[in-house]
Amino acid sequence: MDSPHARGGVVTETQALRPHAEDAFSAELQALAAVDDRPRPERWRLSPWAVATYLLGDTLSDGTVITPKYVGPRRIVEVAVSTLATDRALLLLGVPGTAKTWVSEHLAAAVSGDSTLLVQGTAGTSEEAIRYGWNYAQLLAHGPHRGALVPSPVMRAMAEGLTARVEELTRIPADVQDTLITVLSEKTLPIPELGEEAQAVRGFNLIATANDRDRGVNELSSALRRRFNTVVLPLPASAEAEVDIVSRRVDQLGRSLDLPPAPDGLDEIRRVVTVFRELREGVTDDGRTKVKSPSGTLSTAEAISVVTGGLSLAAHFGDGMLRAGDVAAGILGAVVRDPAADQVVWQEYLETVVRERDGWQDFYRACREVSA
Ligand SMILES: Nc1ncnc2c1ncn2[C@@H]1O[C@H](COP(=O)(O)OP(=O)(O)OP(=O)(O)O)[C@@H](O)[C@H]1O
Ligand SMILES: [Mg+2]
Repeated sequence: MDSPHARGGVVTETQALRPHAEDAFSAELQALAAVDDRPRPERWRLSPWAVATYLLGDTLSDGTVITPKYVGPRRIVEVAVSTLATDRALLLLGVPGTAKTWVSEHLAAAVSGDSTLLVQGTAGTSEEAIRYGWNYAQLLAHGPHRGALVPSPVMRAMAEGLTARVEELTRIPADVQDTLITVLSEKTLPIPELGEEAQAVRGFNLIATANDRDRGVNELSSALRRRFNTVVLPLPASAEAEVDIVSRRVDQLGRSLDLPPAPDGLDEIRRVVTVFRELREGVTDDGRTKVKSPSGTLSTAEAISVVTGGLSLAAHFGDGMLRAGDVAAGILGAVVRDPAADQVVWQEYLETVVRERDGWQDFYRACREVSA
């Protein structure tokens, strides 16, 4: 797909450490556009059906395989995509590591062919970051005029009818968040300095993400919340689903890092996922033994990093097979965030659960070695 990055020639796909979704999956997006004969909302690159197919994966009538990006309930994706086709904005909510950012990027890539119109929300995010700023040299030389105005990603998305993204909306101070109210309800951005307004053209919409755990940092005002349809992204429903997510993503990441594929890595992935789920849920898989949960969040995203780190160890310092010793250090690092409290939790889990489990002796030894 002819994305702005490819056009500008600044970063090409082969140079970028992490290409944008519209570049990394341009072949899939093109194939979808070719077979997609359903109606497309104005300025959408694909129909809502094709956007959902891009996210969920399928094999097209011409044989092209669309890889699943999001693994989870189909309905969630359908609600998210159809929201974007309305005049309401989309809020993706969930605990850390549930693919909010990932889904937001892929939605923007599929709908608008551009996932880069992004505002990263932090405690320091200012109104200018959401509205517009000024080029001061221009402003001083020629006074306030359109040419001196530096549009924010949101303003650019409004002007071009594209999808804007706001990451971590609830980290933004409440009064700054409220800048979005006019944008979302009136679809316009007043520019009092020029006595003008910038109106959104059809096709514009906005995807925000927010973390469940951050609630209370800055609440979303009820006025703003009413402008959004909220879609909650759940944790993977089963261990099998989580293993599937981790192995798919590790495979993709490994390829982009040129790591050789590890045969039989699945057993180790299953083990990482089991450990994370048991510690997260506070009970063993068989429901028999209660375990304490550590302070950090053991999300799917962390499991993906532990396995990717393990593959790198196996490739560079092992025999290429992913083994217990390659993931043990990563697991310890993910679990023990608070050296005092988490260390106790981990030791207890190690001695009462891991040690007793059939077929886990190699893993027990590897963990003991890195814990010492
Ligand atoms: N259900 C899922 N389907 C596909 N990938 C997933 C799923 N859950 C997690 N992931 C993977 O987890 C990684 C992290 O996801 P992401 O960064 O989007 O999480 P997040 O919800 O934005 O977390 P945070 O709240 O920390 O910002 C991504 O690589 C993503 O592919
Ligand atoms: Mg995120």
